[in-house]
Amino acid sequence: MYEVENLEKIDLTLSPPAEEPARQYYYMAKCRCQVRAFEKENGRLPKACVVNYGCQMNARDSEKLAGILEQVGYRLTEDENADFVIFNTCTVRDNANQRVYGRLGVLNGFKRKNPHMKIALCGCMMQEPSVVEKIRESYRFVDLIFGTHNIFKFAELLNATLESDSMIIDIWKDTDKIVEDLPTERKYPYKSGINIMFGCNNFCSYCIVPYVRGRERSRKPEDILREIRQLTAQGVVEIMLLGQNVNSYGKNLEEPMSFAGLLREVEKIPGLRRIRFMTSHPKDLSEELIQVMKESRKICRHLHLPLQSGSTRILKAMNRRYTKEQYVELALRLRREIPDLAITTDIIVGFPGETMEDVEDTLDVIRTVKFDNAFTFIYSKRTGTPAAAMEQVPQEQVKAGFDRVLAAVQETAREQVSLLQGRVMEALVEEVNDHDSALLTGRLSNNTLVHFPGDASLIGSLVNVVLEECRGFYYFGHLA
Ligand code: 5AD
Ligand code: SF4
Repeated sequence: MYEVENLEKIDLTLSPPAEEPARQYYYMAKCRCQVRAFEKENGRLPKACVVNYGCQMNARDSEKLAGILEQVGYRLTEDENADFVIFNTCTVRDNANQRVYGRLGVLNGFKRKNPHMKIALCGCMMQEPSVVEKIRESYRFVDLIFGTHNIFKFAELLNATLESDSMIIDIWKDTDKIVEDLPTERKYPYKSGINIMFGCNNFCSYCIVPYVRGRERSRKPEDILREIRQLTAQGVVEIMLLGQNVNSYGKNLEEPMSFAGLLREVEKIPGLRRIRFMTSHPKDLSEELIQVMKESRKICRHLHLPLQSGSTRILKAMNRRYTKEQYVELALRLRREIPDLAITTDIIVGFPGETMEDVEDTLDVIRTVKFDNAFTFIYSKRTGTPAAAMEQVPQEQVKAGFDRVLAAVQETAREQVSLLQGRVMEALVEEVNDHDSALLTGRLSNNTLVHFPGDASLIGSLVNVVLEECRGFYYFGHLA
């Protein structure tokens, strides 16, 4: 394990080591020299801004980027008018790409006024060759582009960018590499995401993730458990195990281990109070996992189980490998076996070939399962995926279907949340309420939020709260 102090001890007259992560620490030491030179010249430390787009996995990657910037001496800021700005991009739907192009225009304005400014782009969107081409041609003020597979090389790329005036592009097609022990700058002191696997092998026909995140690779259980132990020693009480499809964790390890097996080990870690995980593919959810959840005292009563569509015909075209009936049976079994469980989901409306009849099937599943919450998305055509070549649905029909699906999930969510009225439940206190500083915001095991009067010193602790007044999707309450 590398420690912070070691940066000072690294001999930069030697050539960079070949092995990781030692190589990255060498480049962090080099970057630190650059930061010192900046400070001397400008009489202040340089500022860096990490902007995250997309999912929890990207958020965790952004913490790693921020960790490295912090290590080498940058002052982190949320202001995009900084000396180093990096966008960690998402490309799961086209609107994510459009947002990045829009923000780049704004950054260009800042850069004109600040000649020191360096602009970097990384993440899923950069794994698309057409995007890189467009940036190379039309956004020539960008200094660094790298992708998802070589993010561990960030220190090395940062150093190269600081030493060069031309655009640096480093995109890998794939990797089997997992580099451990790089620094991270966590957003919350009391909770953290943990990657347990990278990539996805499922190739749902609408989804670009397998193309931009590569094949499934699991981290070794001992590395995951060691990271969690370190986090709990630092005061983390809640963790979220992250992967595109956590239910297939461990299949490609030298010594295979099931996800349920991993959870059993995580459960034993002293000091850890809550375990969450994301995302589960219905086709891989095992009986063993249900048993482990049922018996666990730490696994939260929340399961995110993406449905995508309730129509067996559409599910087949999506390559999801389950039917409407199989999904419903699984969800109802979960409800029976774990009565307090909140089930949330993702739904796509407007997949190629979807008719109003298919939407009816989706509505039927929503009403039968009674989702506690759902993300509903309009289908977005992603170049290179099989669905992009299929016949697209007219926009007006998509809109009509989307509105109906949204109304249905809002109805079941309200109904489900209101069932907790009057109960006393444990909440992890997360922050002072955005709108009213006399209130704290806490999260229940089932992911519902509750706002209640209390002192900021409670942040990070677990408290019992009376759920007094249901306000649609959240509660007002008071300490029990
Ligand atoms: N269009 C719309 N939604 C999509 N998702 C993935 N790909 C697409 C797409 N092309 C949604 C799925 C997935 C969530 C993370 O994003 O519902 O579960
Ligand atoms: Fe995309 Fe399907 Fe993999 Fe999820 S499981 S990342 S939707 S291909």
